[in-house]
Amino acid sequence: MRYPHLFQPLKIGPVTLENRLMMGSMHTGMEGLPDAFDRLAAFYRARAEGGAGLIVTGGFSPTEDGEFGDGDSLFNAAEHAETHAVIPAAVHAAGARIFLQLLHAGRYSKRPDAVAPSAIRAPINRNQPRALAADEIPAIIEAYGRSAVLAQQAGYDGVEIMGSEGYLLTQFLSPRTNHREDDWGGSFANRARLAVEVVRHVRGCVGDGLAIAFRMSMLDLVEGGLTGDELVELATLLEAAGADSLTTGIGWHEARVPTIAQAVPRRLCFGVRTDQSGGHNPCCGLQPD
Ligand SMILES: Cc1cc2nc3c(=O)[nH]c(=O)nc-3n(C[C@H](O)[C@H](O)[C@H](O)COP(=O)(O)O)c2cc1C
Repeated sequence: MRYPHLFQPLKIGPVTLENRLMMGSMHTGMEGLPDAFDRLAAFYRARAEGGAGLIVTGGFSPTEDGEFGDGDSLFNAAEHAETHAVIPAAVHAAGARIFLQLLHAGRYSKRPDAVAPSAIRAPINRNQPRALAADEIPAIIEAYGRSAVLAQQAGYDGVEIMGSEGYLLTQFLSPRTNHREDDWGGSFANRARLAVEVVRHVRGCVGDGLAIAFRMSMLDLVEGGLTGDELVELATLLEAAGADSLTTGIGWHEARVPTIAQAVPRRLCFGVRTDQSGGHNPCCGLQPD
């Protein structure tokens, strides 16, 4: 066989995957629809039945100001753990595992209260962020910990901390977006501090019972991106802080090199509908055009 390890189990921290097929994180936009979480559960269950050993949800924010702006991607309260619980239950029933992605959008947020390491607007966002005060940063770290504990309560097997594609943690890492002169900017150790402290704090909150993945940007594709040596150093720091696995992303959203195909044919979804009679329906729930 060409890929002898692909269908072998893999251990990530406390979690054992049946195979190494991973469906990466994709925000579906279904979060705001009626019956959103039943639809999402059906969507992910279909992917688990299709053979994925591990699924990562789309990004959910640990804080309100870290949301994209749609108001549907917040995950920081007991009620969110309750509404999400159908998702891991559906995926587990199909024999797969699922991580919740924690994503703070930083200067990519369209909210008027968007925050960033420095008050520098993203070229792809009309919104001007404000620079975080140093004494606001510990609350962000704590918010990640709270969300991870809630993810555990919801039944997720792990969290993936989003540190790629130009979102808040990436913004802190890069001199392109981080012009701070305090402990959170300047040297690489200072720029990496937020990412590392988030992982360390999440590990302290969840103990050994929840897997922690960190999505690193392996190639920023923007001026001022991290060097290869910095990436190796970051990976080493994240592992020491408690990450069980490092997942990867390529390119900030503002990069001039396109890296994401957004056109997903709606009708493909209906191609996998197998049961219209009220039983389990793996369709994503969208209506035909
Ligand atoms: C509709 C859509 C939503 C996405 N949402 C997220 C997200 O919430 N979090 C994330 O880390 N990546 C997200 N991505 C990026 C994907 O995880 C992936 O990196 C990208 O589609 C490139 O995949 P490829 O390398 O297989 O071509 C999204 C991609 C698409 C197309």
